[in-house]
Amino acid sequence: MTRRGQTDARYRQAKQDGFAARSVYKLAEMDKRYQLLRPGQRVLDLGAHPGSWLQYACEKVGPSGLAVGVDIQPLAVSLPSWGRFLQADLLGVEAEDLRAFAPAYDVVLSDVAPRTTGVMHADMARSLELTARAVDLALMLLKPGGSLVAKVYFGPEVEDLIHRVKAAFTLGKAHKPEASRSQSKEIYILGRGFKARPAPASS
Ligand SMILES: C[S@@+](CC[C@H](N)C(=O)[O-])C[C@H]1O[C@@H](n2cnc3c(N)ncnc32)[C@H](O)[C@@H]1O
Repeated sequence: MTRRGQTDARYRQAKQDGFAARSVYKLAEMDKRYQLLRPGQRVLDLGAHPGSWLQYACEKVGPSGLAVGVDIQPLAVSLPSWGRFLQADLLGVEAEDLRAFAPAYDVVLSDVAPRTTGVMHADMARSLELTARAVDLALMLLKPGGSLVAKVYFGPEVEDLIHRVKAAFTLGKAHKPEASRSQSKEIYILGRGFKARPAPASS
């Protein structure tokens, strides 16, 4: 099958499976490989519209868990009672706003992506800014041992972000899912085993 044919087939499959977007298969693939999501977890999903990752996270964590999505656009799907959504600009959201849903999270997902302009260096710079914010929030909100998955358009400064993740987690790496189009510049930065934040120095 051609690449275009595979993309169309994934789109039809997502509709059939009741998911809002075919990007769900990228998360499903990473989840299968790295065993990220489990019943009872608290999950934060940054850049959640139209909602397929959030739907998948709700399914995986189940009624004893919690899945919270954030996006500048409204969600296009309805969620079960253990799913929540905050419509907000990621660059303006504070960790405190997200602690209102749960004091800390087991997993932070970020599929956030800017509206592309076709000007490659501008798109990469905006993607890096958004993903760096997602990583900052993850480092403030994850529980020790927690996991991070964050999409970014690969570019020269992405290495620095990967190094930050490698330093903060016992396993940090870049991953390109099979379900991601080969011509796409996107990669996913993965962190597993978040190291505990050092306690603030007492004065
Ligand atoms: C590729 S889509 C996410 C798809 C989603 N994971 C799914 O499976 O349905 C990227 C999202 O990032 C969001 N986004 C872009 N800039 C944002 C910002 N500044 N704040 C919040 N969300 C933003 C877009 O609105 C878009 O919905």
